[in-house]
Amino acid sequence: MASFAPSNTRAARRLHRLWSYGDALTPARWPWPLPALVGWCLAWALCLALRALQAPATLALVLALLAIVPLVRSQSGWRRAIVAAGFPLSALATGWVDSMPAWAWLVALALLLGLYPLRAWSDAPWFPTARGSLDGLERVLAPAPQRVLDAGCGLGHGLSALRRAWPGARIEGVEWSRPLAWWTMRRCRWASVRRGDLWAESWADFDLVYLFQRPETMARAWAKAKAEMRPGRWLVSLEFEVPGVAPTARLHGGGRREVLAYRVGAAPAAGAAKEASTGGRAGR
Ligand SMILES: C[S@@+](CC[C@H](N)C(=O)[O-])C[C@H]1O[C@@H](n2cnc3c(N)ncnc32)[C@H](O)[C@@H]1O
Repeated sequence: MASFAPSNTRAARRLHRLWSYGDALTPARWPWPLPALVGWCLAWALCLALRALQAPATLALVLALLAIVPLVRSQSGWRRAIVAAGFPLSALATGWVDSMPAWAWLVALALLLGLYPLRAWSDAPWFPTARGSLDGLERVLAPAPQRVLDAGCGLGHGLSALRRAWPGARIEGVEWSRPLAWWTMRRCRWASVRRGDLWAESWADFDLVYLFQRPETMARAWAKAKAEMRPGRWLVSLEFEVPGVAPTARLHGGGRREVLAYRVGAAPAAGAAKEASTGGRAGR
């Protein structure tokens, strides 16, 4: 939730007090691990209440999981996984899940495979780029890229971060998971999003390709960038380095993960890569 700047008028002060109260009700502002504890308790309470009302175990489990989706979404990274996994894992550990029919597991597996086809797992499952992670990158990479690709764009968080950095650029995303691609096409109508394989797509026409994948992906991505992208273009990775290649610039943007920028066709960096705070520059 955006912060509200206090002003001197009485109405504005009242509004500010109301707003602050709203903040206290926002799980994203709660101290950790309160969101996880509230989520787990809420899910169990709902589940047990539904069972007491004779609801089938599978339905109770699914509804309890759906009820905590807003809490899960309020967190990021591993915290999100912890909030989401606590209830199903504790249900499993207590043996409560044994009362579910076998077909329910097959349905769950089919849903998971629909959401994340196997090829997507070999690179990276869904972890979103945190808001602000790429802030400052526009001051480090010059000139501004005109055409940008998020390779494996998930639910579009990377697309949004790229848009914050270069609002005037043409932003595109490719995503292997059909449901994620479908959803992102609707969520980010200002971007050009398609369902496809990031390795099969040509990167030749992009000024910048952004990746938030896995450490194992980076060597292949760099080989592809060198083979297809024009000299002077950029491969940008959140968190993961290209093994054995010094980045042209490093950036600590607004997130806790480091951003690494590799300029295609750049002479090998002698010594340490250029360190950039949000005000750094590594122009041509
Ligand atoms: C860690 S998420 C990053 C999502 C997004 N780029 C962001 O930063 O918010 C990685 C995404 O890449 C997708 N992915 C993995 N392998 C892929 C492939 N071969 N082609 C297209 N997308 C892929 C996954 O489905 C997942 O949504």
